[in-house]
Formats: sequence, structure tokens, C-alpha cells
Amino acid sequence: MPKVTLERTAFLVPSPLILLSCVGEEGSPNVMGLAWASVACAIPPTVSVAIRPERLSYNLIRETGEFVLNIPPASLLRTVDFCGVVSGRDRDKLAEARLTPMAGLKVRSPLIRECPVNMECVVRQSLVLGSHVLFLAEVVAMHADDGVVEEGSVIVGRVAPLAYDPFGGDYWSLKEVVAHQGFSEGTMPGPIEPAPKKA
Ligand SMILES: Cc1cc2nc3c(=O)[nH]c(=O)nc-3n(C[C@H](O)[C@H](O)[C@H](O)COP(=O)(O)O)c2cc1C
Repeated sequence: MPKVTLERTAFLVPSPLILLSCVGEEGSPNVMGLAWASVACAIPPTVSVAIRPERLSYNLIRETGEFVLNIPPASLLRTVDFCGVVSGRDRDKLAEARLTPMAGLKVRSPLIRECPVNMECVVRQSLVLGSHVLFLAEVVAMHADDGVVEEGSVIVGRVAPLAYDPFGGDYWSLKEVVAHQGFSEGTMPGPIEPAPKKA
């Protein structure tokens, strides 16, 4: 199949779908839809989040150097969309979306009770890249609903998270596990045998 050359984008899809909660030095907490987030390091556990300076959440994170990443279940999609298209500058999103703020252990930003997984994060570094500022933040405390945890680990299937296509704007469900890491072992065809030498 022929290739076509496209206008360049940072086309890493799909993105996770996250609710970021934060609070300023004064005033009520805020929550925004977030997709440009990733694992940045395992030890110490660190995430990266890319946020435009126009967002109210950006200002709040700058003020306090912290936030909470909440993983919403598929059932909360309407709320996540709302928090991603309305700004806390104009509306009290937590109240309108009937989200319940809960106190965390290490940061002042609230956990969102309706989200089964919550990570308290403290910003360690930030990089001004252009349209977005990249925050590298350490996960300083993690919480999950009892019902989604087994032997100390979160069972992703019980969380029922969603994925997002930030280029097309579509929300995707993650319906089934198709294989487990390492399943290819011993099943690949292996190197092609060299052709026998002509006599
Ligand atoms: C699904 C979704 C994902 C989003 N991801 C990001 C993101 O990664 N970074 C960002 O700066 N804005 C992102 N946005 C836009 C903000 O959530 C949106 O501008 C929001 O209104 C900001 O709220 P605030 O002004 O209260 O902080 C996203 C929006 C949606 C709908």
C-alpha cells in the first residue's frame, strides 16, 4: 500500500481519559478533562501532563505545584466531556457535575470520589514547549476503590476506563483483553533459513 505524507502531529493515539482536579491557594477546587498524560518514570512513580496556559487549571497548578489525576469509569463520560469543554473560570464544575471532592493525604487538591483510581501528584519539573507546558509530577500517594483492587493491584477491567482520540475528538471504549504481554514467546516463525549454497 502506498504511503502519503501528512502535516506533522504528535499522533500518539489513543490517549487516556483523565479528570485532573486541583485547587488554588484560595477559592474552590476545579476539575478539567485531560488526555495528554503519560507515564514518565517508574521509580519514583512520575507522570507527565501537557496543559495549555489558557486553562484555569494551569494557573492553579502553577500556584500550588500539585494536582490529582482521577481515572473515571466509562459511566462518567458525560461528566468528563463537560469538564473538558467548560472552564472553571465561568462555572463551578464540581457542583454542576455533582462530583464529590475528598481530602487526600499529601496534597490539598481533592480526590474525586466518583473516580475509582486517584493519584496525588506533586510537580517536580515543568517545561515550556509551545502551545502546552509539560509538567513532570511525582505520584506521592495513590488511592483506589476497594472493589477494583485485588492483592494490592488495581484490576483495570473493574475500573472500565475509556480512551480518547484527541485528533478526531472521539471517545473509545476498551471492551476486551486480546492477549497478555509475552504471549508471542515461542510462537514466532524465527529467522529465515539462508538458501542452500549452489554446488
Ligand atoms: C477529552 C478531553 C481531553 C482534554 N485534554 C486536555 C489536555 O490534555 N490538555 C489541555 O490543556 N486541555 C485539555 N482539554 C481541554 C480542557 O479540559 C478544557 O479546555 C477545560 O475547559 C479546561 O478547564 P479549566 O479552564 O477549568 O482548567 C481536554 C478536553 C477534553 C474534552
